[in-house]
Amino acid sequence: MENKRIITTSFRAEDAESEPLLRPQSLDSYIGQDDVKEKMRVYIQAAKQRGDCLDHVLLYGPPGLGKTTLSNIIANEMGANIKTTSGPAIERPGDMAAILNGLSEGDILFIDEIHRLNRLIEEVLYPAMEDFVLDIVIGKGPAAKSIRIDLPKFTLIGATTRAGLLTAPLRDRFGVINRLELYTPEQLKAIVKRSAKVLDIDIDDEGALELAGRSRGTPRIANRLLKRIRDFAQVKYDGKITHRVAKETLDILDIDEKGLDATDRKMLLAMIEKFGGGPVGLETIAVSIGEEPDTIEDVYEPYLIQLGYISRTKQGRVVTDLCYRHFGLPVIS
Ligand SMILES: Nc1ncnc2c1ncn2[C@@H]1O[C@H](COP(=O)(O)OP(=O)(O)OP(=O)(O)O)[C@@H](O)[C@H]1O
Ligand SMILES: [Mg+2]
Repeated sequence: MENKRIITTSFRAEDAESEPLLRPQSLDSYIGQDDVKEKMRVYIQAAKQRGDCLDHVLLYGPPGLGKTTLSNIIANEMGANIKTTSGPAIERPGDMAAILNGLSEGDILFIDEIHRLNRLIEEVLYPAMEDFVLDIVIGKGPAAKSIRIDLPKFTLIGATTRAGLLTAPLRDRFGVINRLELYTPEQLKAIVKRSAKVLDIDIDDEGALELAGRSRGTPRIANRLLKRIRDFAQVKYDGKITHRVAKETLDILDIDEKGLDATDRKMLLAMIEKFGGGPVGLETIAVSIGEEPDTIEDVYEPYLIQLGYISRTKQGRVVTDLCYRHFGLPVIS
């Protein structure tokens, strides 16, 4: 029973009913991330030709870029079973040992938020990843002895929003480390069109591009906005998502033409108005707008950096001229 809680093969509760449908199932239908895809194609083919397991894979990048989706695709392409768990769900080393002991030859174990495993649990993983063995200590005190159990060969896929939070010994045990990048508007447009087809939503090219350009480089956001615009299209317009429908709805949703939402703007304007555009430390920014520093670093900042609106320096974050212009403010520097 307990394993049920730690391992799940179903989708998380936060994923809506349409989520499984929106997830591409093969590398070919996974849009963008071309470098990662090409490399994974080679590793998968090579492993299959040798009749071997894929080496352990680490996927990292901001939330909503497709780490979970890609993990499931890798399992599909390998023809392997995938078992899914997450760092915070594993509370004791014994839980980790039980999960590993329950694997079959060739299985893929997907650990989401792998940076949230504690050190003792990580240590169970080291020999498992390296030599496919479990070292178990039986008994206590002087009578304690360590026994070694062989495990079937398996592939660990770890996902994290920040590889920097992983301990070096854990990171070093991944043979393949892939960083997912924010998507371009053109790639997001293709994702939006694919999702619209799956959900039977009528959208034209200009509508899809408008939506794509305001989705912060993130497929999850693009899919979410698509559903909201569909509602508006249905109730306020004639059902079809055109450029005008997309633009007017996104304006109502308070998402500007660069995809910045209220929090982005609040943060940038705080940096400009309270801190003279920086340099200002992450913690200070966080306190001034009532957000967690981690959230700013994982969720907000990557896109603002990609847009070229803020830059990171040794002294802290700095607002760029481009950002001043975005707000129609005079450039001081
Ligand atoms: N390359 C892609 N092509 C098409 N759809 C994609 C792609 N990447 C992600 N998506 C869609 O975006 C949504 C979010 O993807 P996913 O849940 O895999 O992100 P994630 O990186 O695991 O996020 P988190 O870090 O929050 O767990 C899914 O609905 C998925 O279908
Ligand atoms: Mg995920």
